[in-house]
Amino acid sequence: MNRFPKTIGIIMDGNRRWAKNRNLPIISGHRAGVKSLKKIVVRCCEIGVKELNIFAFSTENWNRDPFEISGIMNLIEWYLKSEIAELNKQNICFKSIGNKHNVKNGIRNLLKRAEKITFNNTGLKLSVALGYGGKQDIVFSTKKIVDKIIRGELYKEEITEKTVQQNLQSSHISNIDLLIRTSGEQRISNFLLWQVAYSEIYISEKLWPDFNPLDLDYAISSYLSRERRFGTSNIINNDI
Ligand code: FPP
Repeated sequence: MNRFPKTIGIIMDGNRRWAKNRNLPIISGHRAGVKSLKKIVVRCCEIGVKELNIFAFSTENWNRDPFEISGIMNLIEWYLKSEIAELNKQNICFKSIGNKHNVKNGIRNLLKRAEKITFNNTGLKLSVALGYGGKQDIVFSTKKIVDKIIRGELYKEEITEKTVQQNLQSSHISNIDLLIRTSGEQRISNFLLWQVAYSEIYISEKLWPDFNPLDLDYAISSYLSRERRFGTSNIINNDI
């Protein structure tokens, strides 16, 4: 049996379907999604998850209808303004990853402020991926490594998996033990590609706004019942 998952990743999927099923505007689905997120964050703190990584907005999501994008951004802004005190109270250390070029200044500043306020917190590490893509992250690492080689700080022969990992934008994120995706879709969708190499994947049929703390408990029970071999013939309980 596995040890309790230290690092969890969640691809929160199905907000729009949730809204459409109820004949509600799309933004209501995203709003309900934020409510769900708040409950899952609390549950992760209660049960001692060390790292929670959530996919809030992918690089590909920028291709959505501008009205929907602006609604999601407003929600993220609202979340950062209204929740930061609560996150801090729960001893959560907040971080964000992703390319923020298209994100408005107000949100960029709020993200920095949230990171600063919660920097020394020792509880759950909550990382929000915003404008993030796993492939772009690997390109980011590659460019940093090439720069180091050009500056003579590194030799090609010295490059290892650790070098690539340490130069990722997401270098602070551990290997994901348990990757949860909601809404029945069975895809990684460019989320934390480096860290999901040996993740156990749990697909929930529920749409994200319906996913609740009990569903998280079920996902963890499923994880605990599995055997992890990391490509070897031995059962390995520890993170690699
Ligand atoms: C996926 O459902 C959801 C998104 C792309 C956006 C999720 C973002 C939030 C809930 C904002 C939360 C983030 C923070 C930090 C407050 P979908 O829109 O792809 O739904 P569908 O699969 O039914 O089309």
